[in-house]
Amino acid sequence: MEKLLEELIEKALEVRNNSYAPYSGYRVGAALQTEDDAIFTGCNVENAAYTPTICAERTAFFKAVSEGKRKFKRIAIAGGRGEMPNDYAFPCGVCRQVMAEFCDGDFEVIAVIDKEHYKVFTLDELLPKRFDNVNLA
Ligand code: THU
Repeated sequence: MEKLLEELIEKALEVRNNSYAPYSGYRVGAALQTEDDAIFTGCNVENAAYTPTICAERTAFFKAVSEGKRKFKRIAIAGGRGEMPNDYAFPCGVCRQVMAEFCDGDFEVIAVIDKEHYKVFTLDELLPKRFDNVNLA
């Protein structure tokens, strides 16, 4: 298995342990690979008022963007209620829109159960005909 992919999957599973999800019990971890092969991680952080909740994917994106990164290759996502994920977790619509802001259609979204079980999708597949900065031109 490709070393960086292995690392991305490991980090998504590892950061999931930091998920703060006392309301839904659904814990998510994400690991985002930049164009220059740095990795930024994120977990979901919930709130008693519910709406301030942020998803794992956006945590990872905003951490990276706030550190000066703007170009990305792929993101690994691991989610579920159990100790370990037991099904594939897909990014919500809001997170897909954030991906559309910074990524091309060939950006890869990797839904992870473990190193042996993962599925790769492109942003084009997950959010076709999207509204992005190109539409504003
Ligand atoms: N969640 C994520 O972190 N990523 C997604 O793409 C889907 C949903 C979080 C938000 C909330 O804390 C919990 O999962 C249940 O919706």
